[in-house]
Amino acid sequence: MTSILITGGAGFIGSNFAHWVLANTDATVTVLDAMTYAANEASLAGLPENRFQLVRGSVCDADLVDELVSRHDAVVHFAAESHNDNSLDGPAPFIQTNIVGTFILLQAVRKHDVRLHHISTDEVYGDLELDDPAKFTPQTRYNPSSPYSASKASSDLLVRAWVRSFGVQATISNCSNNYGPRQHVEKLIPRQITEILEGRRPKLYGAGLNVRDWIHVDDHNSAVWTILESGRLGETYLIGADGELDNKTVIELILELMGQPTDAYDHVNDRPGHDLRYAIDATMLREELGWQPEYTNFRDGLAATIDWYRNNESWWRPQKAATEAAYAAKGQ
Ligand code: NAD
Ligand code: DAU
Repeated sequence: MTSILITGGAGFIGSNFAHWVLANTDATVTVLDAMTYAANEASLAGLPENRFQLVRGSVCDADLVDELVSRHDAVVHFAAESHNDNSLDGPAPFIQTNIVGTFILLQAVRKHDVRLHHISTDEVYGDLELDDPAKFTPQTRYNPSSPYSASKASSDLLVRAWVRSFGVQATISNCSNNYGPRQHVEKLIPRQITEILEGRRPKLYGAGLNVRDWIHVDDHNSAVWTILESGRLGETYLIGADGELDNKTVIELILELMGQPTDAYDHVNDRPGHDLRYAIDATMLREELGWQPEYTNFRDGLAATIDWYRNNESWWRPQKAATEAAYAAKGQ
């Protein structure tokens, strides 16, 4: 791969992927991003000017997408509306970007015969019971719960159809919850870290027994690169690092690492339709492609993430007040 088009590359995972690719490979990178509320241009600061370009525009702009795809070797498609709570408040942009945007991209990679890797989520599988020993596998039935996860499931099915009917050279990955630097303050971990930095108490939805399967964003991205280079075309790979924890435990750990009493948090209104538990079985990725995560100690990865937010207040400060105002209006 010598030139990579990264859609959604000014968001959390995509910007970390741009940094990862430019640091670990010789490829050049173009980011296509609509610069929605979730984007942050500061996330792309410091990238080498001779190998990196930011294009402001939407994956729903067919002419722009066609032109960009025609001059790249591969596309990694991160662009999406990504937040479940927002999808409950206003699903329309999720349908437009996540479904229509993926369709437009598929038409372009089909026309120009360009390699595509589609980034998706474990949420397409719905949720597991708390006491169920099972994990999600590539054979698990799609059963999405929220408008967000339904839109991502739809996009996955479009990719599968374009592979089968038109021979598009695509792979798909479904990853679990990411954490690390440059994540928007609307998400669980950055929200609580920045609440504590602001002198307020973390906010736990409901009883907080819901389980998420945490993976460091750099491990997600090294897996994506492995699939891009060595994955079988048409295949779906699940990405996870055996990081299951309930939300209450995550908040208590953040409080402990930030020197606060571990019970200094508030219970707030639960999320409607709140998925209970996600868990990924990444055996296929590990055994077939030899991928392994580097961040196997969540406590250490979380401590480094806390340090990043402490040291980068100017990155998150502009987004914080509006994010909290929207949550407060819902009793969250
Ligand atoms: P994010 O919300 O931080 O970033 C999304 C980016 O997409 C933003 O920069 C935004 O401006 C851009 N975007 C939105 N609409 C666009 C459009 N129409 N055209 C171009 N760009 C547009 O999201 P994230 O957490 O980085 O997630 C990235 C991808 O990874 C998504 O596809 C998401 O479904 C998937 N994913 C996320 C996680 C996670 O834990 N965050 C886990 C698994 C999969
Ligand atoms: O599983 C992968 C998914 O992980 C991705 O597809 C999504 O894009 C990403 O946003 C994430 O979805 P979640 O809904 O799991 O992430 P979120 O950070 O919003 O919430 C994580 C858990 O924490 C969830 O059970 C809700 C809870 N929560 C969240 C917030 C913001 C709280 O208890 N308090 C909060 O303030």
